[in-house]
Amino acid sequence: MWKPDRLSAQPLYQQIANDLERRISYGEFPPGAMLPSERKLAEQLGVNRSTVILAYAELRSLGIIESRSGSGTRVSKYKWGATPKHTPNWHRYVEGGSFLPNLPFLRRIREALQQNPELIDFASGELASDLAPAEEINALMKVNQYTEYLGYNHPQGYAPLRKSLVQYLHQHRDIQTTDSSILITSGSQQSLYLITQCLLAPGDAVAIEDPSYCYSLPMFQSAGLRLFRLPVDHRGVRPEGIRSLYKKHRIKMVFVNPNFQNPTGTLLDEERRNELLRVTSELGLPIVEDDPFSLTAYDGASRPPLKSIDAMGSVIYIGSFSKIAASGLRVGWMVAPNSVVERLADARQQMDFGLSIVPQKVAEQFLNSDYFQPHLERLRMRLLYKRDLLIEALRKELPGLVSFMVPQGGLHLWCKIIPEVNDHRLLEEAIRRGIVFVPGSVYGSDSGYVRFTYGRSKADEIEPGISKFAEALRSVLS
Ligand SMILES: Cc1ncc(COP(=O)(O)O)c(C=O)c1O
Repeated sequence: MWKPDRLSAQPLYQQIANDLERRISYGEFPPGAMLPSERKLAEQLGVNRSTVILAYAELRSLGIIESRSGSGTRVSKYKWGATPKHTPNWHRYVEGGSFLPNLPFLRRIREALQQNPELIDFASGELASDLAPAEEINALMKVNQYTEYLGYNHPQGYAPLRKSLVQYLHQHRDIQTTDSSILITSGSQQSLYLITQCLLAPGDAVAIEDPSYCYSLPMFQSAGLRLFRLPVDHRGVRPEGIRSLYKKHRIKMVFVNPNFQNPTGTLLDEERRNELLRVTSELGLPIVEDDPFSLTAYDGASRPPLKSIDAMGSVIYIGSFSKIAASGLRVGWMVAPNSVVERLADARQQMDFGLSIVPQKVAEQFLNSDYFQPHLERLRMRLLYKRDLLIEALRKELPGLVSFMVPQGGLHLWCKIIPEVNDHRLLEEAIRRGIVFVPGSVYGSDSGYVRFTYGRSKADEIEPGISKFAEALRSVLS
């Protein structure tokens, strides 16, 4: 006999209600049939009677069963009988489908930010309003009228933006490409989605960095991929594990974020870049190079991406406007061999017929405007200022309790909490005191880390935010 699964995340009563609903719909209990008493069913399933009471209440609320005092519980004649009125069981739909929900920690952070917009936000991986080029974009939008016909667009994206990106990639990333090798996406996230859904199949194995932004994306598990780890240290990802992962698990792709990696902030050193390309090209493995942060390098020196030294054409390069201009524009791009771009552009048509022309046009004008270069310079300076405020506050408030590497670009600082600490309690205590951060376990196997995003908070919030964090940590440790 079926028994509820006590290890499942789904409550016992919900599992029992779902099982009964299934049995009723298969005709095991026809309309009007008597269901076991609450006590008897509880005995059969080895649960408390109160759990069965809850399950019956759930089915009653959906109109599937009805109870009358003294005459027990029956399958409703109306729901399953002649009348066509059926309430859909939304629980079943909501839990079905192939998409996994976001991670509980990330849902908790989002909920906390929605409930209290005053929270000091060290969690959201985006630019604060004082770092975004809002005035410049407004000025461009005032001058440039949108008189064009707004019809469905080219499957690879707005042609003038792709042409401008060819220039941009050449000038800023040393990548030689053509507009036919570029696909405009709704941020890097959509590039990752298209790659995982269209170039890979359920059961495929891929290698990702550990820790990595990718671990925070149930997108990889929803696509049925098996994830294998490549550890990251102060020199970036270690490529030496690739060969054995290939032998053991036949990995099909390698995902990396070489510049100011999210969450560790590390920069992959030159030797490892070459080694990564050498190993993957020997094995014929594609690399996905996710590169949203490179233009934030505080010294202004741009590190050549893997794509620029990719003689074998093994790299799919992903870029975005999110971390250098505005995450809400949702403009990202992918550079890949033509056959890949065409395949993904075709799949993308099935999804949404392409990104709206309006943000693409804004992005194109901003890239080509005199505002772009000064904006980048200001952005780097301000990020560096915020990074230093954060470091100063951590050293002052938490001497001996934390250690970290100083990031040279990007928006994040990866901080080790030296004493052992419970992630969950620390986050709850921090939220109670008015700040949010992302617990490190969201990004992979390392526990005892915190990701502080200094790009999102205002400069004058950083010191008080870290002081609240220190209070939260001390209260958890005591
Ligand atoms: C490494 C990395 N890749 C991709 C993304 C997705 O960014 P977007 O879709 O806004 O371009 C993020 C966002 O935080 C990120 O950190």
